[in-house]
Amino acid sequence: MTDIDTDNASRATAPTNWQSRPLVLIGLMGSGKSTIGRRLAAAIGWRFVDADEEIEMAAGCSIADIFAIYGEQIFRDLEERVLIRLMGEGPIVLATGGGAWMQPKIRDLIKARATSLWLRAELDVLVERVGKRDHRPLLKNGDKQSIMQRLMEERYPFYAEADITIDSGKGPHERVVERMIATLKDYQA
Ligand code: S3P
Repeated sequence: MTDIDTDNASRATAPTNWQSRPLVLIGLMGSGKSTIGRRLAAAIGWRFVDADEEIEMAAGCSIADIFAIYGEQIFRDLEERVLIRLMGEGPIVLATGGGAWMQPKIRDLIKARATSLWLRAELDVLVERVGKRDHRPLLKNGDKQSIMQRLMEERYPFYAEADITIDSGKGPHERVVERMIATLKDYQA
C-alpha cells in the first residue's frame, strides 16, 4: 500500500495565514502608506519598514537626489533590489513608494510572498496631502493636480489587483487602521 502524506497534502491546500507574510501597503503618493503603515504596525506589534527610506539608506542620498543625479530608471532598479530583499524579511508592515507596484517583477513578488493592501483615496484628498510638502520628484515639473490625475488613471487599474482595498479618505488615520485590522481578521491569504 502506498503511504499518503496527509500532513503535506493538507498543508499544500490550506490557505496561508496573513500573519506569516509581510503586509505591503500600496497606493498613490499622499494615500498615507507611511503614516498609516506605522500605526498599523504599532497596533499589531510588527516592525514597520518604509521602502523609500531603505532606498535612501542603500543609495546614501535622498530620493530627490537619486532622481536628479541618476534619473528615474536607476531609482526603479534600486527600488526593485530593495523590495526583493524586504520580501524575505518575514512579517513586517511595509510601505512602498507609489510606483513600486507598477513594476511587474515587484508586483509578482508581492503577490507571491505577501498580503497587499491598497490605500485608495480620491483625487482631492491626495492633491491636498501632496501639496503640503515639496520633496516628491514626480511632482516637481508641472501642475500637481494634473500629474496626480494622470497617475490615478494609469495606476488605479493595477492597484485594484491588491488582495485588500481600504479607503483612505479625509477622516482620521486611526479609523483606517481599525478598518484594516477588521478586514484582516476575516482574511486568509
Ligand atoms: C513615487 C512615489 C514616491 C517615491 C518616488 C516615486 C511614484 O513614494 O517612491 O518619488 O512613482 O509614485 P511615495 O508614494 O511614498 O510618495
